[in-house]
Amino acid sequence: MLLLNSLSGKYIDRFPVWLMRQAGRYMPQYRELREREKDFLSFCKNVELATKASLLPLELLGVDAIIIFSDILVPLEPMGIAVSFEEGEGPRLEWDLKVDSLRRITSKDTEFVNEIVKAVKGAQKEVPVIGFCGAPWTLFAYAVEGKGNSNFKKAKLFMWQRREDYKKFIDLLAENLVEYLKGQVHAGADLVQVFDSWLMHMPYEDLKEYASLLKGFFQRLRQELNVPVIYFYRGSGEYLEVLKDLPVSAFSVDWTVDLVRWMQRDSRTFQGNLDPAVLYCDEEVIQQKVLELLKNIPRKTNYIFNLGHGLSPDMELSKVKLLVDTVKSYKLG
Ligand code: CP3
Repeated sequence: MLLLNSLSGKYIDRFPVWLMRQAGRYMPQYRELREREKDFLSFCKNVELATKASLLPLELLGVDAIIIFSDILVPLEPMGIAVSFEEGEGPRLEWDLKVDSLRRITSKDTEFVNEIVKAVKGAQKEVPVIGFCGAPWTLFAYAVEGKGNSNFKKAKLFMWQRREDYKKFIDLLAENLVEYLKGQVHAGADLVQVFDSWLMHMPYEDLKEYASLLKGFFQRLRQELNVPVIYFYRGSGEYLEVLKDLPVSAFSVDWTVDLVRWMQRDSRTFQGNLDPAVLYCDEEVIQQKVLELLKNIPRKTNYIFNLGHGLSPDMELSKVKLLVDTVKSYKLG
């Protein structure tokens, strides 16, 4: 399979492409499915609907991988944190901030996620299936802030002032996420991606300590999962200096990173880099930006096309399709 071949440095005739948040509200077909469950978490737990949503990008865009439809906040619920999604407001998390009351989980606690992996694997054999989870820091920050888009004041004060609790919480998250991903891989996920969407809010000094925790986390994933692991983080190339020794198969980077320079010095696979805002441009500019990026990639393998972050609800399906088609038209002679 193209994407797995690129990850392992084998010969490929074009770069593979998939997109973060590829199944989402920018798709009329997703919005239609979504109407069948009022509440977003209930939608995630409805195996039939979540499977259909997972498959939409393969049907409508022809992407080279399917990421299962779920959310990074799903494993927080069985840990003892109440998770809800308010219409138009984003996620909301409620608990007493007592780390000792949080639970260890097993993959059985989120069996519906494993069932979605199985159903997506069973429905098609064309492309690999990506399992995923949030990274410990991003989930910690969500849990402590209690919501999305915030100034991270609470998360930072917790990290700096409640040192023991911070370490306990981050360690517990790492433990639980290993189990959570194991469930997805046993169910058939061909690879996994770990989302550190909020890493750019972590000060550089604290990043060094966090990187050593991540190292242990990824070592365990490598030992216990035996599938490729992609680490997506948001933050600059300066961050990558601290993260570069992590035992991951690939780094997925945003638009603040000098991708070509990094690919010249690190032989692993890279993913991403294009600013998603390019999708608001005219069609010619979209094509031009995609081709420019692809032409600059210094290898003919070990790259996966993706955006630097996820698609947004106000993007146009036809432009997203054009983006995918443009990547697929670029042949590696
Ligand atoms: O990529 C995919 O297509 C698979 C599905 C997926 C979703 N969320 C679906 C979703 C994945 C991989 C995620 C991961 C996720 N969730 C991340 C990491 C990626 C990133 O974007 O940085 C984060 C930070 C979250 C937390 C989260 N969940 C947010 C910020 C929101 C949006 C809130 C809003 O209403 O704007 C969600 C909800 C969510 N997750 C939606 C989708 C399609 C939209 C809710 C809906 O359909 O009603």
